[in-house]
Amino acid sequence: MRVLITGGAGFIGSNFIRRLFAARGSALVVNLDALTYAGSRATLADLGEQPNHISVEGRIGDREFVGELMDKYQPAAIVNFAAETHVDRSILSPASFVQTNVVETCALLDVALEYWRSLDPLRQQAFRFLHISTDEVYGSLEGGGFFTEQSPYAPNSPYAASKAAADHFARAYHKTYGLPVIRVHPSNNYGPYQHPEKLIPLMILRALEGVPLPVYGDGQNVRDWLYVEDCCDAILAALEKGQPGRAYNVGARNERSNLEIVRTVCRTLDDMLPPAANPRLKGRRPGTYDDLITFVKDRPGHDRRYAIDPTVIETELGWRAKEPFDTGICKTVRWYLSNGQWCEQVRGEEYREWVRANYGERVGDGA
Ligand code: NAD
Ligand code: TYD
Repeated sequence: MRVLITGGAGFIGSNFIRRLFAARGSALVVNLDALTYAGSRATLADLGEQPNHISVEGRIGDREFVGELMDKYQPAAIVNFAAETHVDRSILSPASFVQTNVVETCALLDVALEYWRSLDPLRQQAFRFLHISTDEVYGSLEGGGFFTEQSPYAPNSPYAASKAAADHFARAYHKTYGLPVIRVHPSNNYGPYQHPEKLIPLMILRALEGVPLPVYGDGQNVRDWLYVEDCCDAILAALEKGQPGRAYNVGARNERSNLEIVRTVCRTLDDMLPPAANPRLKGRRPGTYDDLITFVKDRPGHDRRYAIDPTVIETELGWRAKEPFDTGICKTVRWYLSNGQWCEQVRGEEYREWVRANYGERVGDGA
């Protein structure tokens, strides 16, 4: 299996590369990543310079460069993870989301189409363009129910709107040109290597430092949390067994409110590294990490609830989430406790600026 992976130096992409090598040892992976603030060589350091893992720095929107990569490596599939991914950043500054998630995704589709047209019929039939979308394109479930593949699109944040636009193009390239596109809609992922701007790692690292844990609004917004390795298995199943033109929703039937998530993180940390024994605390020394929870100004347009109905991928592709939340969250907290160096590498000056911009007004000095 020869695959061009985009965004492989980010959270899900890097986990997917590891998963692919574990499941299909002979795979050749060409990983194209722009190494934005969200992507880091440190995230792939454990893979080393394996001959079947080729990491190249570049943008998915660079048509000439991507075309050269396709000609040189002749992949049988593209898995497109590359994107701007943080809702709060999309609220403060949507332009880069339109650029990467819409304009550059279209450029990647164009290059893929040209390449696909150059293949012989057998290779054309086997080729796949797997596009990683999100459940956020469906909007917010205010009145109960679940997202299915038939749910109407109703994106609320600039991030979700840019992912929805990309989906429409990906779908159109299948309908109009026959490019074998498959779309996957995962719910909120958690696990190792997630950037510390996202809820779970943010709370782990802030608790360890003894600074306020900023819960937006009343903390009752609900997400359907999926362990990243389960998500990667679902993507592999869609790549190998999915039908071109189809979309697959991926979720773990694991709905939790944000407050429940933050409290679980705090309890897990209380067990693994009680505040009294924590040498990293630089803010307050709380009795328990829960004491740091601070309700702050809500995110504008904050979606109330996401919940996935994964019946289609379970019944048609035989995939099912395996990791129970209790063990997944323990593995995740332990990983962040053991990988302080990685955390420091991805939290540079740019990150500190972001924290001031997003949290300065919300939590004052504790930002
Ligand atoms: P991430 O932010 O951790 O990683 C994104 C990667 O894309 C980074 O390595 C970055 O350098 C790279 N990148 C950004 N712009 C690029 C460009 N123009 N060209 C090449 N590379 C570029 O994101 P993630 O959480 O791993 O998400 C991966 C994909 O999954 C995204 O498409 C996201 O929308 C989707 N998704 C994520 C979640 C989640 O919970 N993390 C849930 C559903 C869907
Ligand atoms: P996030 O990890 O940004 O994922 P998404 O917005 O794509 O679901 O946020 C998950 C939930 O956590 C979301 O409801 C917003 C909330 N949240 C907070 O309450 N505080 C925070 O500091 C962050 C980053 C998120």
